[in-house]
Amino acid sequence: MVGTVKKDVVVGIDIGTSGIAVAVLNRSCGAIQEPLGFGFCASISMEKGRIDDPGNAAIAVQKAMDEARTAAGVSFASANVSIEGPELVTRHGSVKQTIAGQQVIEWRDLQKLQQHLCETVLPADWSVIQLVNIRFYIDDKHVVRPQGFRGRELGLSATVLAVPGSQMEQTRQCLRNVDLQVTQIVAGAPAAAQAVLAEVERQVGVICVDIGAGMTKAVFINHGMLYHLSIFPVGAKNVTADLAVGLHTSLEAAEKIKKEYGLGSISGHVYVPNLSRTGYNVVPGALVHKIIRSRIEEILDFVKQFIENLKLVSSVPGGIVITGGGAQLSGLSRLAQDYWMMPVRIGCNTLLRKEAPNEDAYRYITAIGLALWGNEQSQVTEGGFMGRLKSWLR
Ligand SMILES: Nc1ncnc2c1ncn2[C@@H]1O[C@H](COP(=O)(O)OP(=O)(O)OP(=O)(O)O)[C@@H](O)[C@H]1O
Ligand SMILES: [Mg+2]
Repeated sequence: MVGTVKKDVVVGIDIGTSGIAVAVLNRSCGAIQEPLGFGFCASISMEKGRIDDPGNAAIAVQKAMDEARTAAGVSFASANVSIEGPELVTRHGSVKQTIAGQQVIEWRDLQKLQQHLCETVLPADWSVIQLVNIRFYIDDKHVVRPQGFRGRELGLSATVLAVPGSQMEQTRQCLRNVDLQVTQIVAGAPAAAQAVLAEVERQVGVICVDIGAGMTKAVFINHGMLYHLSIFPVGAKNVTADLAVGLHTSLEAAEKIKKEYGLGSISGHVYVPNLSRTGYNVVPGALVHKIIRSRIEEILDFVKQFIENLKLVSSVPGGIVITGGGAQLSGLSRLAQDYWMMPVRIGCNTLLRKEAPNEDAYRYITAIGLALWGNEQSQVTEGGFMGRLKSWLR
């Protein structure tokens, strides 16, 4: 019976535009990482990462969780869950505060300063997802753990990731309707990057591009830290919609054509089922190719802009790693390499390579990253700083 086996597991739940993906990983002796099971359910009431109807969305989340519980053969009560959307912002900031009477710095002083930083960089009705790149200073000197020290002034610099308050509320409402205790809500794109990047890439500088169904997300990671994150409201689903409109066919037929031909040039004609399903339209292969390529070029342009905005003085040795469902489009890495004039590889996760549940394994990449995130956090947290920060941000 599901739910009777007790194992030390970490779980990630990715609430994506096209589907809810759940990954259950085994944690033995403090280290991961063996996948125990996966679950998936097509999203209901989702648009570009935003939950429109929390009650309906919860049905899909619950189904995906149930499937993962059955596949893994274990019960799990808690998970890290993703949140994402084109409105997500990253704000860098720093604040300082005088320490009255040079008293010993306590945990609550750090907490107050983080709250102050969030209030300084964000409009009032925004919700903080997480703080990254946190650095504390005492009298302008960097200190990793300031608790217990004395000084005249406590400083903090950090990057705040946030979404509109209404979006966070919809996610919370959805999660209240499922049988789950949420450990942390975190941004999906850094979690996907965590799943597909090698540590050396994260250290030397790398850009990770996640082409999902409704959005394309780009993150720049260097020295192991997330420097920039940008989300563009166009993804692989737009290619399908363009094909359906341009070829006067159904979304199902358009999706099939997209996956079959990808970015390859198409000679001759393509037979496309017409909308009334009574026959076929015969369309030039060149037209199909043009429709797919135009939308993909728009996505590649967004990433090009992202790279230019970074104003990198030197190259990015780690190159660009593309992931997400859109990365499965055949011919994409070659076109992207020419377009960005940088080395490109398609990113997957070693756990998936070993244990791919099916040909749609890419669906679980972000969920794996979220689960791995959970493992990393709980190792740092034993009564430590990150655990308490986590509960404050929840
Ligand atoms: N072989 C393929 N060629 C092109 N597109 C593909 C292929 N396989 C899957 N896709 C597309 O990938 C998308 C799903 O990817 P993914 O699971 O990463 O999206 P998501 O996480 O639900 O969306 P988002 O991250 O935008 O919220 C779908 O639009 C699907 O059509
Ligand atoms: Mg996604």
